[in-house]
Amino acid sequence: MTTILVLHGPNLNLTGHREPETYGRTTLSEINEQLQVRATERGAETRPFQSNHDGALIDTLHEARDWAAGALFNPGAFTHYSYALRDAVAAVGYPVIEVHLSLPAAREPFRRVSVIAPVCRGQVAGFGPYSYLCALDALLHLLDSGG
Ligand code: DQA
Repeated sequence: MTTILVLHGPNLNLTGHREPETYGRTTLSEINEQLQVRATERGAETRPFQSNHDGALIDTLHEARDWAAGALFNPGAFTHYSYALRDAVAAVGYPVIEVHLSLPAAREPFRRVSVIAPVCRGQVAGFGPYSYLCALDALLHLLDSGG
């Protein structure tokens, strides 16, 4: 069974409730459920994890080397400045797709830089919860076609 890590960074536990005009009204649990349904249709499974702490995100990326074929990762605001998370993504070896609900490139200047993107296999942003579903399809396609 292909297992995909779905990793959500800081404040994403409040998705559906915080700044709904920017991030929408779908909760993180609903996003995780939609991903699991889509994964099951494709013969895969997802393992979601959210943390507000960079160390916990790094530990999870490391531990997933034992079981993940790849990962979807929304690093939240860490996207824009966490070199530690960037190094973790670079270290793990499995493909990681960076995901965002909003389109950071169209927002405040500090969001226009992703220090994570250069070590990711791809990026999907701007489609709300559908960003995650697009990223899952893209990752499974990548894995099916040999990486
Ligand atoms: C976000 C974009 C980030 O800039 C922001 O800090 C978030 C959410 C998104 O999914 O659009 O927390 O990652």
